[in-house]
Amino acid sequence: MKNIGRCRAHTNIALIKYWGKRNNELFLPMNSSLSLTLDAFYTDTSVTLDDTLTEDVFYLNGIKQDKTETTKINRFLNLFRETAKDNTFAKVESYNHVPTAAGLASSASAFAALAGAANSAWKLNLDKQTLSTYARQGSGSSTRSIYGGLVEWNMGEGNLSETSHAIEVDDASWDLGMIIIAINKQQKKLSSRVGMKQTVDTSPFYPVWVTEAKKDLIDIKQAINEKDFIRLGEITESNGMKMHATMLGATPPISYWEPDSVKAINKVKEIRNNGIPCYVTMDAGPNVKVLCRQSQMSDILNKLEESFTNDQLICSKVGEGIRELTDEEWSY
Ligand code: DP6
Repeated sequence: MKNIGRCRAHTNIALIKYWGKRNNELFLPMNSSLSLTLDAFYTDTSVTLDDTLTEDVFYLNGIKQDKTETTKINRFLNLFRETAKDNTFAKVESYNHVPTAAGLASSASAFAALAGAANSAWKLNLDKQTLSTYARQGSGSSTRSIYGGLVEWNMGEGNLSETSHAIEVDDASWDLGMIIIAINKQQKKLSSRVGMKQTVDTSPFYPVWVTEAKKDLIDIKQAINEKDFIRLGEITESNGMKMHATMLGATPPISYWEPDSVKAINKVKEIRNNGIPCYVTMDAGPNVKVLCRQSQMSDILNKLEESFTNDQLICSKVGEGIRELTDEEWSY
């Protein structure tokens, strides 16, 4: 038997951040979050079920992966094997399309693409909402990459896995875009998984973070409803800063910032003060992401080029949700 499923998923950048789990095994978050799916960065993945295999095998960008990486894939695929009641092992091939300078090797697109491909390979026909609960158990942020545009990850209730899923809030077809300022492409020093746990366990600011994130989510959804870009940007920037402030309160303190991150933030403020609205957000690394209107991207880019090299600046439009790839599209 050789069933094949192929899927493309784009990465996403949170405007209201997920930072902390209430259940580490099920990847249930402490707060709901909201993101923008990006067109410029994606993962293509194929899952081939092969009953001659005695274990799962995993190739990333054509290179066979070691036991540690393969074990993560194996655990994740077990969710699908249980649902399908079929224990066949799989060959997984993934290709990340992330400009090398971006340093955005994202688990978000990886597990969303793997979930989509596994769904097709096992012919499960799971709907997107259900699939987002599966993707979540690979990496929290991948819950949101199932959909395109502006996506909410509803935190759900208690320990009920099926209630913690993504919803498309808006297709974001109203002049939105993002510029990534790549500060450093090295592997992050502290993974988000470890960093968020340390923050939950030790930061005295953590309860305030949860309260603020809840308020910010309500406000940003209103801004989205009204297509109010300025408000969207203000809330995004403020929420990101609050997440980083909360981490600084952890023991030991966590900071992903580098001097050039501050330089980028200041440059964005300068551009804004000169009349072009644009706003920053940062994740578990030094890169700075600039939320802007797509129609003003080239003006902003010109200004950023005064301080950063061309290959440090990557522009992205809004991306779509997961989709199956045809044989013709699978060009590897
Ligand atoms: C700062 O999804 O990478 O990007 O669930 O442990 O795999 P795990 O963490 P991950 O965390 C992402 C954190 C963030 C904010 C966000 O994307 O919401």
